[in-house]
Amino acid sequence: MWFSLLSCCVLACIALPTNAVDEPKIEILPNTDPLKVLEGGKLEITCRYSTKAEKPNPNSLIIKRLGDRQGDIANAVKLTNLGFDTHRSTSPGATQFDWTIITLKVSKSGSKLTIQDTGRYYCIYEDVYKFFQKDVDVFRVVSPSEVVYNETSSKLSCVPEFSTETTAKDYTLSWSKNGSQSLGDSLKDRYSLEGDMDQNLVISKPGRKWGDLGRYQCVFTFTPSQQTVTNYVDLIGPPKVNEKSFDPSKNYVQGDNLILKCPVTGYPFPTVSWLRDGVMLNAGDRVVINDEGSVLNGKLTIYSLEFSDKGTYKCMANSTYEGFQSAHATTIVRVKDRLAALWPFLGIVAEVIILCIIIFIYEKRRGKQMEDEADSPDYPANTQDHRTDEVRQRNVRT
Ligand SMILES: *[C@@H]1O[C@H](CO)[C@@H](O)[C@H](O)[C@H]1NC(C)=O
Ligand SMILES: *[C@@H]1O[C@H](CO)[C@@H](O)[C@H](O)[C@H]1NC(C)=O
Ligand SMILES: *[C@@H]1O[C@H](CO)[C@@H](O)[C@H](O)[C@H]1NC(C)=O
Repeated sequence: MWFSLLSCCVLACIALPTNAVDEPKIEILPNTDPLKVLEGGKLEITCRYSTKAEKPNPNSLIIKRLGDRQGDIANAVKLTNLGFDTHRSTSPGATQFDWTIITLKVSKSGSKLTIQDTGRYYCIYEDVYKFFQKDVDVFRVVSPSEVVYNETSSKLSCVPEFSTETTAKDYTLSWSKNGSQSLGDSLKDRYSLEGDMDQNLVISKPGRKWGDLGRYQCVFTFTPSQQTVTNYVDLIGPPKVNEKSFDPSKNYVQGDNLILKCPVTGYPFPTVSWLRDGVMLNAGDRVVINDEGSVLNGKLTIYSLEFSDKGTYKCMANSTYEGFQSAHATTIVRVKDRLAALWPFLGIVAEVIILCIIIFIYEKRRGKQMEDEADSPDYPANTQDHRTDEVRQRNVRT
């Protein structure tokens, strides 16, 4: 009997929630409530209606917004009228006993998303008037998104302005650099956090470490949801060429490959153009221009150099930021003949050969002259004897 009671209970326990779960249900995603969004960022809300019972009508699923949270849902406005992009989809169950899910996704981003989008959002399935609600807070950060670096000290700030007072203090603010979790070692001892909730990041002597330029982020972490919202602030600076790492001149031998890298820094990352004797170089068969790290077109390669490639090469770095002057560096490229180093050696060889030829010819002519003298019939014999003696004597002496 205990056993049957127990099994009854187990059955009931299984049956009860199963019944409840089989009811059509409506959800609104993401799960955070209230949802915090940065003005100019992206607001995306997904509404999901799941049902087993009937064949749902996808168009009955709608999202409405009520600007005033205290107001009546009857005054809420349909989102399709408010500049949101809408995407609707249905995934029917495989059998009639499976869930059919209708999804409605709405989104708004960039300049379209403003503080006016703050409010209470309702996800509504009209036929049965089921709904789910979510509060959305759109806030803005009052700060320039770009700060031109100052050699003494640069201040980046993230001062939030919330659309509703309820969320004004339930966050922490942290600073980090370029997608990482921290500000990095190079900034150690050179920055300080100031102001309410550390809303100002002050970097001293940013010129000293040129790598300080770049994209910084201030991250709002809201409690208790732990939702984070990131705002970016760029520390920008004009292109700057490190001439020390650009040789004033370079010597090459015909057929060599020339590789020049423009040693430039700056943020936004500069774009380099290459000039030879003032004429812009374009990529071609032998001329290749690549990006060098983050610097666009920062590397010039010319394969198998020719004499005509000699000249004054200039790398010119321009910034996309208006008001920044371009920077440049030049190098003189000389191209020598491949045989240049051989010429002195070849000269000596040629001299030796010519000398040998002269000696050879001279000796030959002398030998012939002597033969002619010997053959001559009217040549006095004693003279010849005398000459022979002389040669003999010379031979003995040497
Ligand atoms: C750089 O910062 C110093 C001190 O903060 C300030 O006095 C100076 O005017 C700033 N220079 C520029 C060009 O903004
Ligand atoms: C951010 O870091 C990546 C690699 O960590 C680097 O390639 C990129 O240039 C950096 N961007 C900025 C803006 O500093
Ligand atoms: C770069 O800037 C210089 C002037 O500073 C200008 O003459 C040149 O045309 C610019 N180059 C490009 C590719 O915009």
